[in-house]
Amino acid sequence: MDIDFKFVPKHFASRSHEKMKEVLMNPNATGPSIHYYMIRGGKQQRNITVWETGTIGREYIKTYGHYHVGNLDETYWFLLGVGIALLQKLALDPNGKMIADIVEEFKAIPVKQNDSIFIPSGYGHLVANIGTSYLVTADDSPVNFTEVNPASLPGHADYELVKQMRGFAYYVVENNGKPALVRNKLYKEIKRKEFNGIPIIQ
Ligand SMILES: [Fe+2]
Repeated sequence: MDIDFKFVPKHFASRSHEKMKEVLMNPNATGPSIHYYMIRGGKQQRNITVWETGTIGREYIKTYGHYHVGNLDETYWFLLGVGIALLQKLALDPNGKMIADIVEEFKAIPVKQNDSIFIPSGYGHLVANIGTSYLVTADDSPVNFTEVNPASLPGHADYELVKQMRGFAYYVVENNGKPALVRNKLYKEIKRKEFNGIPIIQ
């Protein structure tokens, strides 16, 4: 049976190595051509994300990371695998605009199958796959299918601040077979930190 590809991009997207270079700890390291896959259903039907396994250089495969536009929280349900979720809230300028390089609060949260995490409005988020199987999640963020590219770049997500800082305040890396965090030195200040036992290395 033929697949009519004109209907695919509305619901399916993948994030390429080429695109992920913008936010990798080492953009020159090699990796799989696709880092993760997304099927968008929206708030009711849910969105499914599937992460590849492995590392790019030392860094575990992760999602790009984004902040939500407007007042929007989100829940992630972990269906398979093990990962580390990173949440960060940026400082705000007097006009309430996010300051790209000052982090008010940073959290690294170990997650596994059957866990869920709640992402309050204002917290940027990404997840790294630290396991040997696919990492699979469902989430409830809304998708407006009348947008130009709702599956790959939904309007509720702001990727620019992450791009500008070449990722989040820390990178999740493999260190002797275990996850560790490496500080992203482009960030000027990280005020409150919660690492949940994950070591910080150089
Ligand atoms: Fe989100």
